[in-house]
Amino acid sequence: PLVSMKEMLEKGKAEGYAIGQFNLNNLEFTQAILQAAQEEQSPVILGVSEGAARYMGGFKTIVTLVEALMEEYKVTVPVAIHLDHGSSFEKCMQAINAGFTSVMIDGSHFPLDENIALTSKVVEAAHAVGVSVEAELGRIGGQEDDLVVEDADAAYAIPEECERLINETGVDCFAPALGSVHGPYKGEPNLGFDRMETISKMTGVPLVLHGGTGIPTADVKKAIKFGHAKINVNTESQISSARAVRSVLEEKPDLYDPRKYMGPARDAIKETVIGKMREFGSSNKA
Ligand code: G3H
Ligand code: ZN
Repeated sequence: PLVSMKEMLEKGKAEGYAIGQFNLNNLEFTQAILQAAQEEQSPVILGVSEGAARYMGGFKTIVTLVEALMEEYKVTVPVAIHLDHGSSFEKCMQAINAGFTSVMIDGSHFPLDENIALTSKVVEAAHAVGVSVEAELGRIGGQEDDLVVEDADAAYAIPEECERLINETGVDCFAPALGSVHGPYKGEPNLGFDRMETISKMTGVPLVLHGGTGIPTADVKKAIKFGHAKINVNTESQISSARAVRSVLEEKPDLYDPRKYMGPARDAIKETVIGKMREFGSSNKA
């Protein structure tokens, strides 16, 4: 069923595993992620950025597609449709009105008080209709379509500020920027585990790790131990699907039927997602 993230994240945090947020980019991503979740008997969060929503035909199109595929595939595991990095109160409301079960309001580029005021406004409206909310503090480096943060501007979240934001807004989960990056890492990631532990102990709220692509398994396990119950992955599925398309077309340059190259791309996404679900420990937790 389509549900908010609240319950699945609390269960994950209590039992020591994380639920993957896998971002949608097109039809094949949607198919692959839902099939992976059902086969693995894993709860799943479908992440939709504003850019991806524009590409796929808007929030309503995505909700309708997800509902239809869930019926077609007889999906019984918990599925959340989540607005990723929502840029404004209005965008969050549009997503909720279209049937999204969860939203992120990303006020991380605002001064703390403004971030808190904006996040509170979204929480009030979202909770009134049973929709869960994620917020962010600090700046996650790298690029995810609309969102670009230069290396020099990337910043680790400050624990006292996180505590204030969480207490004053009542968010369901929280993404502290702690050195993770959107897109491929330049070298090894340098996650701030000390702060992570502090923030988790101070607040108790399920934490969210953005930039899940390219984080070594040992760091993933540590992040889960220090309170992370949601890990976002997009780039890794994009890379594996692009690799599949390239290899099919290189091997058969005369091929033109999209099903012949997008089918293998879909298989590659599914394999990537299944691998992450097993790594995060969410398989067989539906
Ligand atoms: O919000 C989405 C994620 O943080 C994706 O990060 O593309 O580096 O896996 P990634
Ligand atoms: Zn992100």
